Amino acid sequence: MPCLTACSVSVMTDHDKKSGRVCTTKGLLCAFVGLCVVMFASVFVYWYQVNEIFTLSVQLTDNVKEFYEKDAKALLRVLKLSELSNGEVTPDLTPDVSRLVSTDISDRPDNCKTCFNHNFNYVLDNDQICDRNDTSPEIDVVILIFTVHKNRLQRETIRNTWLTYAKNNSLDSNIRYAFLLGAPANPEMDEQVREEFKVFRDILQEDFKDAYSNLTYKTMMAYKWASTKCKHAKFVMKTDDDMYVNIPNILKTLNTNKDKLQTHVGGVCHQTAKPIRDSRSKWYASKKSFPGSDYPGFCSGTGYVTSMNVATKVFEMSKHVPFFHLEDVYVSLCIKKLGYSLLAIPGFNGGRFAADPCIYHGSTMMTSHEVPPDMMKKLWFGKCKKLG
Ligand SMILES: *[C@@H]1O[C@H](CO)[C@@H](O)[C@H](O)[C@H]1NC(C)=O
Ligand SMILES: *[C@@H]1O[C@H](CO)[C@@H](O)[C@H](O)[C@H]1NC(C)=O
Ligand SMILES: *[C@@H]1O[C@H](CO)[C@@H](O)[C@H](O)[C@H]1NC(C)=O
Repeated sequence: MPCLTACSVSVMTDHDKKSGRVCTTKGLLCAFVGLCVVMFASVFVYWYQVNEIFTLSVQLTDNVKEFYEKDAKALLRVLKLSELSNGEVTPDLTPDVSRLVSTDISDRPDNCKTCFNHNFNYVLDNDQICDRNDTSPEIDVVILIFTVHKNRLQRETIRNTWLTYAKNNSLDSNIRYAFLLGAPANPEMDEQVREEFKVFRDILQEDFKDAYSNLTYKTMMAYKWASTKCKHAKFVMKTDDDMYVNIPNILKTLNTNKDKLQTHVGGVCHQTAKPIRDSRSKWYASKKSFPGSDYPGFCSGTGYVTSMNVATKVFEMSKHVPFFHLEDVYVSLCIKKLGYSLLAIPGFNGGRFAADPCIYHGSTMMTSHEVPPDMMKKLWFGKCKKLG
């Protein structure tokens, strides 16, 4: 108030220089004090508000967290997966499949009770592929190679190149393999394959009709055969007859990832993926076959590895996971239902590496796709100058 009086006085006695000077000094002082008061007040108000907003936001986060936790728990209850809710840090090595299966069938049955039984019969089989005796080495990996009847040249080429590490599936080999077939469209083709089987005894065949949209049958055939007829092999690899596989590098990576692979499938793995709704695509999935908007990821079927534990569990779980025609996505559906995961491993390639022997004989390449027989031989027998 002295401020106002001083200034109103100064306005009134404007002509008086002395009083004017007093008013200016006093006025400045007052303005300064006033400013300070306003600043303190606003800092206080600001602090108060910030504090309140902070408290509010903490509450909000808690609410949101609680909301999602509640939601997640409800979902887990529905799926009867609540046992897994307390951290997926230590996945159960031997989950009891029946416990993980829901009996509720919703609009979108992503599981069911024994709705997908793999009940096909063997047309060709060799129980001795994984035989061992007291002195033979442990089987590190059994390699299951998808093929079709007409690809005789492809089979012959890989038997003579990268598959030579398997030593014709002899007892002293730590690597075993088999080619997998369904029933051909033309039954006459069976005759040739039977001849081939008599010589190499490395072909397995079941009586489902061989077709691209039936590949999931072949995959289940692989898991079934491995887990029943080769169950003492440590690891399983799935690949195709147009693949170049560097077996020494595969053995190294299996050893490096041996613990992880007890609960993972490893290869060219994508953690997320969406169904392709364009019917012209090779990977088309109708809304009817897969209503969901996201796949649980997948590891490319061109080449992936896993342990016998996972292979056995996937086959067991598959009975309760309705058929889906894209076999790599189907495997991932089973994997996720088991609480297991996908592991991207460098060196696995869903495409083809440059046709350079230094890459194919190097220490990092695991798999390379679409390698025709001629190129396969050139690369296998080719020398890398740099490696000497
Ligand atoms: C595997 O079988 C092929 C053809 O029967 C033979 O030429 C080759 O020597 C065999 N390899 C081994 C390591 O026994
Ligand atoms: C076990 O297999 C090895 C390798 O083929 C063979 O040399 C050996 O004689 C076999 N031993 C027995 C007891 O059959
Ligand atoms: C898939 O296999 C089943 C069983 O053999 C057969 O009925 C069906 O026609 C096959 N699908 C195609 C597209 O060939």
